[in-house]
This record gives sequence, structure tokens and C-alpha cells, in this order.
Amino acid sequence: MPSKKYIRFLLLLLLCQFSLACQSPGVKPGQKQFIDTQGASLHAVQNDRLRAIMNEFNALMFEQMYTELELDQQRRKKAKAIAEAAAALNRTVTELPGILSDLQLTADEQDVFRGLAVDLQRQASALEEHADRGDVEALRPMLYRMNTTCSACHSLFRGPR
Ligand code: HEC
Repeated sequence: MPSKKYIRFLLLLLLCQFSLACQSPGVKPGQKQFIDTQGASLHAVQNDRLRAIMNEFNALMFEQMYTELELDQQRRKKAKAIAEAAAALNRTVTELPGILSDLQLTADEQDVFRGLAVDLQRQASALEEHADRGDVEALRPMLYRMNTTCSACHSLFRGPR
């Protein structure tokens, strides 16, 4: 017969394991998702063109950039592919201001939206620059920061599903 103390110890152990397993996984670069802060938003907007732009962002950032980073061989080649994806993201992000008038945001909200688009563009430019130079070490934290811009805008302007 195991003692009460022993059983209590086992229960505690079990509990610890559960709580560990339940910890939020955190966002590891390389996971094919962005930090999704759904819930209350400043002003959720929906727009077909915007969705198309977003899907392009997603493909460039997660299917191309992070994937290239994961494969650690032939680093120069990977960096080049990331630079190209960042350049494409840069081109796509310039389309955001053009659809702003379709989004029915207040002037203040438009400023915030535009500001976040500008942040994204700056980050994509910096990413492209570092990737061009083959500065592979810098790319992961830069992608991570870029991801926080994606999420910041989603938490303000993207509605719950
Ligand atoms: C300036 C604001 C803003 C930024 C920055 C932004 N997004 Fe979005 N995103 C939105 C909004 C608003 C929606 C909701 C569009 C809709 O439902 O019509 C959205 C939706 C999405 C969707 C869902 C598209 C669909 O088909 O429903 C994906 C995927 C996405 N964004 C990826 C990204 C990624 C990746 C980044 C960063 C590289 C990013 N977004 C940066 C505003 C932004």
C-alpha cells in the first residue's frame, strides 16, 4: 500500500505535468502562423482586395521566408530567396494605402492603419537589406518583429472569425 504522502506526491507531479502541457506554446519563428490576437478590435474591416494582399503576405512570410530560414544549408541561397520575398512583400504593402478609402475607417483609424503599413514596409525593407548582404543571423529576429506588426494591425482591424 503506497503511503498517503506518496500518493499526494504523485498527484502533485501529475498536476505539474498537466500545467506544463497547458502552457501556451508561444510563437516560435518557423511556425506557420502569426500571433493571432483576435477579440475586441478597434474597427474590424473586411475587404476582398485586402484579403488577397494578406494572403500574399502570409505566403511570402511564412511559406517562403521562414521556410528558407529553417533549411540551414546553402545559406547564401536562402538569404537570397528571403530578400526576394521581402522585396515582393514591400511591393505588396504599397497597395494598402490604395484600398484605405474602401475600408470605412475614421480619419484617426486611417492614420493608425497607414502607420502600421509603413512600419511593415520599413521592416520588410530592412529585412531585404540584411538578406541581400547574407546576414542570416539577423533575419530570424527581424522576421519576429515583423510578425508583431502583422499582429498589431490584426488586433486592431481584423474581426473575429
Ligand atoms: C495595416 C494593417 C495590417 C497589417 C500590417 C497586416 N494585416 Fe493581415 N489583415 C488585416 C486585416 C484588416 C485583415 C482582415 C481582412 C478581411 O477579413 O477582409 C487581415 C487579414 C489577414 C489574413 C487572413 C486573410 C483571409 O483570407 O481571410 C492573413 C493570412 C493575414 N492578414 C496575414 C498578414 C501577415 C502575414 C502580415 C504581416 C506580414 C499582415 N497580415 C499584416 C490587416 C493587416
